[in-house]
Amino acid sequence: MTTAKATTMNDVLVHAEKLAKVYGGRIPVNALCDASFTLCRGELAALLGKSGSGKSTLLNLLAGLDQPSSGTLVVDGLSLHSSNSAQMAAYRSGTIGVVFQSYNLIPHQTALQNVELPLIFSGQARGQRQEQAAAALDAVGLSARANHRPTELSGGEQQRVAIARALINRPKLLLADEPTGNLDSATADEITALLKNYCHEHQTSALIVTHDEGFARRFATRILRMSDGCLQEDAA
Ligand SMILES: Nc1ncnc2c1ncn2[C@@H]1O[C@H](COP(=O)(O)OP(=O)(O)O)[C@@H](O)[C@H]1O
Ligand SMILES: [Mg+2]
Repeated sequence: MTTAKATTMNDVLVHAEKLAKVYGGRIPVNALCDASFTLCRGELAALLGKSGSGKSTLLNLLAGLDQPSSGTLVVDGLSLHSSNSAQMAAYRSGTIGVVFQSYNLIPHQTALQNVELPLIFSGQARGQRQEQAAAALDAVGLSARANHRPTELSGGEQQRVAIARALINRPKLLLADEPTGNLDSATADEITALLKNYCHEHQTSALIVTHDEGFARRFATRILRMSDGCLQEDAA
């Protein structure tokens, strides 16, 4: 017999309440309107929606790259809407890992050096950094490319490096904005499987933005949809 497990505050990693973002300017844009949702530890959510619907806006708030206009956003007990810059820096380097569609690797550095970067910010010694970065590259199947620069790697390989870099500090929340958007479908499937396995193994939560319904269903246990700044969730 299975017993339904009640969600406790301990299980909740992300809690957003009436989160809104208005971009100022000549014509103000209501990019996110009163979004409320909860993401539990270990949960994998996909965020679907048309271009311009507000997906990146929500992701940027969760990534601590932008501040909401109103509402509350708490991740792992930290109120992002009211934190100071030191708390936000610790949050970005310790709590979350971010993967972008365009990989965002440093071009003149090798794969190993790119993966090592977050460990420099967290103040680790060189030998230990290199060992950990090598292990992270191995985990994404790229040991043989450790000394290659991004231009010497395929798109799928570059995304693996970006994933190793995002995961090296063992984040509690993985955020990704169209991580397979620049990849062919076979490579996209490999990347999806890699992310999913990692999250299961480490009980990592993830919110992944995609416009690919198939990817969302393969990756996620929850499907959130954004339309004109309004967030809704598919019935389970
Ligand atoms: N920095 C900005 N300044 C003004 N408007 C913006 C800015 N960023 C995004 N927007 C607008 O906010 C809306 C949502 O954008 P975005 O979150 O990037 O959508 P998506 O990621 O779903 O394509 C769009 O109408 C977009 O033009
Ligand atoms: Mg976007």
